[in-house]
Amino acid sequence: MALGAPPDAVNLGLGEPGWPLPTGQAVRPDEGSVDLSYGPNTSDPALVDAIAGYAQARGADTVGPDGVMVTAGSQAALFALFQAYAEPGSAVLAPDPGFVAYPTLARLCGATPVGYPLGPDGDLDADALLAALCEHGHTSLVVLNHPANPTGGLTSSGALERVAEACAERDVLLVSDEVYAELWVDEPPASLRDVTDVGVVLGSMSKAFGAPGLRIGWATGDPEVLAPARLVHNAMTTAPSRLSQRAALALLEAAGEVLPAAREQLRLRWDAVARLAPCANGHRFLGDGPQKARSRSAGRVGFYLWLPLPEGIDPDGTEAFALRLRDEGRVTTIPGTAFGARGSGFLRVSLGGPVEDLEEGLRRLAPWWKA
Ligand SMILES: Cc1ncc(COP(=O)(O)O)c(C=O)c1O
Repeated sequence: MALGAPPDAVNLGLGEPGWPLPTGQAVRPDEGSVDLSYGPNTSDPALVDAIAGYAQARGADTVGPDGVMVTAGSQAALFALFQAYAEPGSAVLAPDPGFVAYPTLARLCGATPVGYPLGPDGDLDADALLAALCEHGHTSLVVLNHPANPTGGLTSSGALERVAEACAERDVLLVSDEVYAELWVDEPPASLRDVTDVGVVLGSMSKAFGAPGLRIGWATGDPEVLAPARLVHNAMTTAPSRLSQRAALALLEAAGEVLPAAREQLRLRWDAVARLAPCANGHRFLGDGPQKARSRSAGRVGFYLWLPLPEGIDPDGTEAFALRLRDEGRVTTIPGTAFGARGSGFLRVSLGGPVEDLEEGLRRLAPWWKA
């Protein structure tokens, strides 16, 4: 009702307090300028415009304000999209290894999570994904994640094009989780929007913008595709926190400073990996079976190192080895199996913390790979 009202209409619609906050010591909004009303379900129009502009600057030419859904973290965007599109009894395809929330979100909808394998470098393998799509005729949703958590893997434009086409043909929602997209050192990774308007792309304040506690993320896509997910998000949270929206707007307006600074921090961490990571020869190793080498400079994206266990350690003992590293080696990593069965034989090492901690952690890991 409020959205369609004439500007001079008196609003007796919304159940929220309209009196000022006390201005004592405990609560002191800066000169009364902090707006703590619910605000529109669609979020602050200034933030929506800023996200649309940001998406356009990154190739999403057709995204206007009505193609932006601001959410309480990209995780809430995922929840809302899954609730709106993942049909009970259908398959939801998500990477294995992959971000832990995807299978849980599918199960919460009564859908069956199906993990599709990644390529040997942890990159998207379009053939493998398309094979899974053919095998599971009743698929309602496909998730891509690139740069990937936990492998740091990427996706080529060609692979994105093939997957988008296959999803469009089958009327399957494609969700491209690109929350790590700004965390690159050498060159920006491909985006789904480089090749198509199909599907939904996720972004977030939580990674390169360095503000996960704001709980602000977004989905961009066709307004009609977003509409049912908006209903879910409105029912869930009404709208993201007003203060967080304001802070997110400030960060987006400062993106020209914030993002290069984040990339410089990331470079320092990948440099530490090149100097100190346990796998020798300046390579990181990813993938199934015989460990395949890949140049580190090709993979300086995201902030995870996907580290194979030392030779001779049984992949079935991934968790036990991670516990030994933690308790005897005094370094906490995440066993790859936390991200799916295909994560067996790997550990995820986060580069996100202080450089000194990373350096010290990598030094402590090194002897375990030399034995
Ligand atoms: C791949 C991926 N997607 C989404 C999220 C959720 O991020 P947020 O809800 O903070 O935007 C994360 C968080 O770690 C993630 O790794």
